[in-house]
Amino acid sequence: MRTYYIAGNWKMHKTRAEAAELAGALVAQLKDGKHKYLVAPSFTLIETVAPIVRGSNILLGAQNMAPEEQGAHTGEVSVLQLKDLGVTTVILGHSERRHIYKEDDALINKKVKLALRHGLEVILCIGELLEEREAGRAEAVCESQIVKGLEGVEDLSRVVIAYEPVWAIGTGKTATPEDADAIHAYVRRLIGKLYGAGAAEKIIIQYGGSVKPENAAQLMAKENIDGALVGGAALKADSFVPIAKF
Ligand code: PGA
Repeated sequence: MRTYYIAGNWKMHKTRAEAAELAGALVAQLKDGKHKYLVAPSFTLIETVAPIVRGSNILLGAQNMAPEEQGAHTGEVSVLQLKDLGVTTVILGHSERRHIYKEDDALINKKVKLALRHGLEVILCIGELLEEREAGRAEAVCESQIVKGLEGVEDLSRVVIAYEPVWAIGTGKTATPEDADAIHAYVRRLIGKLYGAGAAEKIIIQYGGSVKPENAAQLMAKENIDGALVGGAALKADSFVPIAKF
């Protein structure tokens, strides 16, 4: 049985005081939660949030990471710096990184391998644009992002996939549970082909894209949907907690 994994991506939101307040509320309200949980605050908030979630059932994540360990990379944050703060997980290949900041699969693959080499868990985000879906290319796009994103990765035990159709992110438009599950099933079959049946059965595939308290349970009821990567609704305990306890 796979564990449901609900992650909150806070994106570029919150001051330290606001982040501390949200993290404190989540720790209190998710104490009896039955699933696996993560919050991913901005880099500048990680040191504030770390002592609040330490010892709780909420893991500490980062939203991105440099492709190099250290060096002359102005404006970047390294895996060593993240580990130093107690970060256990890094979100890589988020659609906002791919589309706003033009990260390509080769760069994302470099980050994935570096994070795994350092023992971090990786949430690798994939997902198609609206025009790609309309052209019938959703599966092909996701397949290519997985094949290229995981090139050279042998062990998937610390890899989570987040399927986030780009047209559903922050738009209020959610994929239907059936459409989402179809891609999740496709991804699981692909993992089976690449890594074998055991890896396919074990890998956690989150859905992301306008997950809300009102649609979380229907999505999670689908056979291949093992959790959620939540953006907008992760910014308030009132909306994240009901998702996390769907
Ligand atoms: P959203 O974002 O829940 O606001 O659509 C999801 C994500 O980008 O991870």
